[in-house]
Amino acid sequence: MMAQSDRPAATIANVYRGTFMHSTQKTALEVLEDELLGVDTDGKIAFMGRGAELQTLSQTFGFNPSEVTQLAKDEFFIPGLVDTHIHACQYSYAGTALDMPLLQWLNTYTFPVESQFTDLNFAQRVYSQVVKRTLRNGTTTACYFTSIHTDASLLLGKLANDFGQRALVGKVCMDINDFVEHYKETTQESQDETCRFIKELLDKKYPLVRPVVTPRFALSCKETLLGELGAIAKKHNLPIQSHISENLEEVKLVKQLFPKYASYTDVYLKNNLLTDKTVMAHGCHLSDEELVIFKETGASLSHCPNSNISLCSGLLDVRNVLKHQVKLGLGTDVAGGYSASMLDAVRRARDTSKVLTIQNPNYNTLTFEEVFRLATLGGSQALSLDGQTGNFEVGKDFDALRVNVAAPGGPMDLSVNSEEPKIILEKFLNLGECQFLFNLSDPKRLRCAVHHLLHVVSLLSGDDRNIAEVYVAGRKVVPFTD
Ligand code: GUN
Ligand code: FE
Repeated sequence: MMAQSDRPAATIANVYRGTFMHSTQKTALEVLEDELLGVDTDGKIAFMGRGAELQTLSQTFGFNPSEVTQLAKDEFFIPGLVDTHIHACQYSYAGTALDMPLLQWLNTYTFPVESQFTDLNFAQRVYSQVVKRTLRNGTTTACYFTSIHTDASLLLGKLANDFGQRALVGKVCMDINDFVEHYKETTQESQDETCRFIKELLDKKYPLVRPVVTPRFALSCKETLLGELGAIAKKHNLPIQSHISENLEEVKLVKQLFPKYASYTDVYLKNNLLTDKTVMAHGCHLSDEELVIFKETGASLSHCPNSNISLCSGLLDVRNVLKHQVKLGLGTDVAGGYSASMLDAVRRARDTSKVLTIQNPNYNTLTFEEVFRLATLGGSQALSLDGQTGNFEVGKDFDALRVNVAAPGGPMDLSVNSEEPKIILEKFLNLGECQFLFNLSDPKRLRCAVHHLLHVVSLLSGDDRNIAEVYVAGRKVVPFTD
């Protein structure tokens, strides 16, 4: 029995009994059958123990055994999924526009759409969609990029708080953009608006939503701005996010534009942007020397496999990142990645690892357990939130998915013979699917839906219908109450 002995027993709000599966530092997949888990009124895990210990636990923690929620045979809990990299403002065109490499894609599709977030009605619509969609797909923690607009970015913070998602929200900073002329800030505006964003978001005192300092990437920011943002993050002790070494053309341009720096990593390092609270997306083309700098600074990487493949950016060698002991999580990178579902990120991460194995049969393919750990505990570590979330440990918040693999109308057929929990988890991770609800009478939407469906039918098989309930800090946030 694990119980917290250094605190007086908290008031227990809910107790669950059944199968729990999660990752720990020691083991990629720990299966706890007939486990009891108690959540206190603050949403924290107050105790865990064996089902056989019900009587003792109920006395110690003061709950009534008749009020325990018993999971059904085909149900289990896993930790909430952590999306370490998603562009909320790109959700409106997710599933389309994947016919160009990164830099052309940014200029052609991304910047024109992001420039529309001066319109708070548009922002309200897109941002509530993305928060709801990701929650429904089991993303209990999201690390968001927004646009350069402070007020729309504050609105995303409000929506995440209202719907109950744990979130880091980053107002994007960029003082270079030669393609969509008005979609950039002056260096001074970018600093001032970042400070205003941080202050106003912190003043809201949302319990689960925090600001993250967000230079878009080295090609969008003058050296002065990078340095100033590093200083702002340091002064307020804030997390930092950006992109690094996603695509070879980008790496080449960074080399040309920053000739006095030893590498792309060095550009961020010397501008105080690589700290133990930094998460950098992609990193497909980082050298071993650069990975050593990540390890030394404690900075982490976000692996965005759908985007890496969709924009033909590269294949991240996760095994090599792990060998360098660099913290690593998974990201959807909507809309470079077409799916907002972290179950998709899990599958694409495994596919990428298998492509590396096809290229080199000696490559040590990631196991499903390892990828599951990246999507949960790894993500929480990458965002420096592993004190609060990532797995089932006494003292952490209860962020969890109640999975029902036998959900009516769901995409999975269970084996006729009963299967062990580990096998059922593997099936769920591989076979879960996403719901797309469209009004197909509108021809524009129909075209969009066809785009989506082509991707869904050919590439996805996993399903949010199996995610019966989603909890963040003990609060049931899915199904929605509205
Ligand atoms: N690099 C700079 N901006 C972006 C972006 O919006 N998406 C992706 N995938 N890479 C970027
Ligand atoms: Fe990105």
